Amino acid sequence: MSNIEPCPELIWFATNRCNLNCIYCCNSNDPDNLNELSTEEARELIEQVADFSKYFVIIGGEPLLREDIFELFDYAHTLGLPCSIITKGTNMKKIWAKEMAGKNVLVNIALDALSRDICDKLSRREGTCDKTKEAIDTCLKAGILQGITCTLTKANAEETLDIMDFAAELGVEGCWMNLRPQGRGMEVYRELALMGHEFEEYLNNFYRRAREINKRTGLNFYVYDPIYCRILSQHEDQTSRICGMGRYLNVKANGDVIVCLFADLKVGNIREKTLKEIWSEVVSNRFFNEIHDPKNLKGACGECAYNYICGGCRVRAYQLTGDWFASDPVCYLTQVST
Ligand SMILES: C[S@@+](CC[C@H](N)C(=O)[O-])C[C@H]1O[C@@H](n2cnc3c(N)ncnc32)[C@H](O)[C@@H]1O
Ligand code: SF4
Ligand code: SF4
Repeated sequence: MSNIEPCPELIWFATNRCNLNCIYCCNSNDPDNLNELSTEEARELIEQVADFSKYFVIIGGEPLLREDIFELFDYAHTLGLPCSIITKGTNMKKIWAKEMAGKNVLVNIALDALSRDICDKLSRREGTCDKTKEAIDTCLKAGILQGITCTLTKANAEETLDIMDFAAELGVEGCWMNLRPQGRGMEVYRELALMGHEFEEYLNNFYRRAREINKRTGLNFYVYDPIYCRILSQHEDQTSRICGMGRYLNVKANGDVIVCLFADLKVGNIREKTLKEIWSEVVSNRFFNEIHDPKNLKGACGECAYNYICGGCRVRAYQLTGDWFASDPVCYLTQVST
């Protein structure tokens, strides 16, 4: 076990509690289920992450709702573990931003639209858009704004292209999370997901805008979706796949360990086993290796010339078809050939 490669990144759902109620939220776990890791358990988790991982990302729920979060930032900082959070920032305070700056915590803020109407509707809370923009300003001034993120849906697709310019003007990069059929995301998926040619057109527009911004500013923008790797490889050299299933670990609020942010594929619980033990089982697991081998893919994805670089989102294929190795139904190439 001592010879295994370290886990490159660990994402922790610090809490299921949230002050918003986004219609697409992948974390629809019961917010009142307070079977959260205690402060002591969270400190142990941080020790383990510092021991065998390079990067700690804290999400939720709303991570800043955890009462002990600053104590935990402090502990990660003491152990030399780089740490960042993803938040909509609607409860951000200037004093917190200063404190985070002192502990080297970087902040990624999720802004779904520049217009109040769309942003507030997606989060189902009036005032989200204004408060999120305020948080962006606060974090920028405190020097801790790492980037902007957003969840890409049909409702905000057009506006997300303008968010790229907005972020570039602030001098930060962006990673867009394409809507996945997970949690409440499953309930709205058919209505809100960009599919087939519509998604293809969006990705090409995104690519053109990202390219233009990059030439001008050197900043990078990315869509977290394997199909975007195909788009990149059609325009330039792209050699790495982004599907992280089984390539990093996520710890849920109750200590369950899952292998993809968007799949409830449980591989253990940190209350029962160490992260290292769980990680060593994951890296040697046959299924997690088979899923990344393009030779095992079926249908259009199996025959696709880009499957070595894309391979489709395996979790999405499973959630929408019931087969982990099926073609990814979101790609236009799988639609024309079936
Ligand atoms: C689960 S949230 C938690 C952190 C914080 N509350 C927020 O909304 O940014 C982390 C990221 O997941 C993304 N996300 C949430 N639901 C999603 C879904 N169904 N599909 C894709 N991304 C999703 C959001 O973009 C968010 O930035
Ligand atoms: S996406 Fe984030 S802000 Fe929205 S409900 Fe989920 S955890 Fe809360
Ligand atoms: S057919 Fe499958 S492997 Fe090819 S680009 Fe589309 S999703 Fe990716």
